[in-house]
Amino acid sequence: MNGLGKSIELDRPLVLATRNRGKIAEFTELFKGSGIEVRTLDDFGPIPQVVEDGETFEDNAVIKARFTARVLGLPALADDSGLTVKAIGGEPGVFSARYAGEGAGDMENNLKLLERMKGIEERNAAFICILAIAVPRGPALIYEGICEGVISTELMGSNGFGYDPLFYYPPLQKTFAQMTRGEKNQVSHRGKVMQELRGELDKVCIWLRQRLSEEPF
Ligand code: IMP
Repeated sequence: MNGLGKSIELDRPLVLATRNRGKIAEFTELFKGSGIEVRTLDDFGPIPQVVEDGETFEDNAVIKARFTARVLGLPALADDSGLTVKAIGGEPGVFSARYAGEGAGDMENNLKLLERMKGIEERNAAFICILAIAVPRGPALIYEGICEGVISTELMGSNGFGYDPLFYYPPLQKTFAQMTRGEKNQVSHRGKVMQELRGELDKVCIWLRQRLSEEPF
């Protein structure tokens, strides 16, 4: 049963285009009881690695979802997220994970951001998370979650990951790294996009059924 109070089943699984255990757990939970059965990449044999060379988070989420859908011939869901800071032209943007270079860790990325922001007063920033749901051919369905905050002048807190110690969220007067996981989920870009998708699962199911019925399998 879904939010409409009636059962809209999908006749094939939706593949989560990620190998991140945390994301898999969250998405699996999200789709529980929705009429949409989920699988992960680990349920299939080795598939080639997609090149995430898009210029925006949306480009990359669509690239991942569409690539997986085409390779496996099944509908797929992918996400892409990162931090964007206005005063430095939107950096780190799509380079969030490798801002300080390929293979750089969270601390190096944070230190690079602090260095780039040295002496800059305008420190507004936003975390963005895009979810893309694709079928092997045709358009993708996009959801966006945004959380606005400020880049602090020093690292604060030890929870979370990535840029959490530098991302100060004024309404709670804490950085993401000073929040519990529950607090962060309530306000974060990822939490918000998941809440939105949860409210629209019935529509997603109808959209998928419609798109898949038009696909020449
Ligand atoms: P991905 O979407 O999992 O590839 O994340 C891209 C990068 O954005 C991560 O490696 C982090 O550097 C950053 N990022 C995304 N979401 C968060 C968050 O919630 N907290 C801190 N950093 C994040």
